[in-house]
Amino acid sequence: MVQKSIRIREAKDEDWREIYSLYTRLSDDDLYLRYFHFYRPSENEIKKLVSLKDHVTVIAEDDKIVGEGSIYEDGEFSLVVDPQYRRNGIGALIVKELIKKAKELGLSKVRFYTLPENIAMINLGKKLGFKLRIDEDEVYGELCIEEKKVEECSNIA
Ligand SMILES: CC(C)(COP(=O)(O)OP(=O)(O)OC[C@H]1O[C@@H](n2cnc3c(N)ncnc32)[C@H](O)[C@@H]1OP(=O)(O)O)[C@@H](O)C(=O)NCCC(=O)NCCS
Repeated sequence: MVQKSIRIREAKDEDWREIYSLYTRLSDDDLYLRYFHFYRPSENEIKKLVSLKDHVTVIAEDDKIVGEGSIYEDGEFSLVVDPQYRRNGIGALIVKELIKKAKELGLSKVRFYTLPENIAMINLGKKLGFKLRIDEDEVYGELCIEEKKVEECSNIA
C-alpha cells in the first residue's frame, strides 16, 4: 500500500541535490542493478540526469526524494527506490508514470533490461503486465502501450 504522502512528478533541474542524496543512500548492489555495472554517479552526472533532454526523469517524493526513474527515446527505462521505502508500491508508481510519459512521447512500447537475480524488478515487471524474455545473463521486459501500434511490438514471449 502506497503512503498517501508520496507524490510522483517530473524532475526539475533544482532536484539534482536530493537525487544525488538518494544515490548516496544506495548500496553498491543497488547501483549495480540500476546501471548493470558498478558505477556511482558523481554530482555532475546527476546534474546531467535532470538537465539533459534525451530522456524524461520522474521522482517519488515524501519529505525527501525517495525514488527516481528515467525513460529514454527508445522506450528503455530504469529506476531505483530508496532502500528504506521499498515494498510500498513506489516502484510500481514510478513505472506507471514513466509509461504515461512514454505515451505522451508517442512511443509504442516501454522496456527494461535487468539481471536474472533481480527478483524485485522481475516481479514488478510481471505485476505490471510486461512480457519477459529470460536469458542466462539478462532479463528483457517489454510492454506494448498503444493498441493501434501493437504490431510494432516484437513478440518476445
Ligand atoms: C526494483 C525496485 C525499483 C522495486 O521498487 P519497490 O518500490 O520496492 O517496488 P514496489 O513496492 O512497487 O513493488 C511492486 C511489486 O514488485 C515486486 N517486488 C518488489 N520488491 C520485491 C522483492 N524484494 N522481492 C520480490 N518481489 C518484489 C512485488 O511483486 C511487488 O508487488 P507486491 O508488493 O504487491 O508483492 C527496488 O527494489 C530497487 O530500487 N532495486 C534496486 C535498483 C533496481 O533493481 N532497479 C531496476 C533496474 S531496471
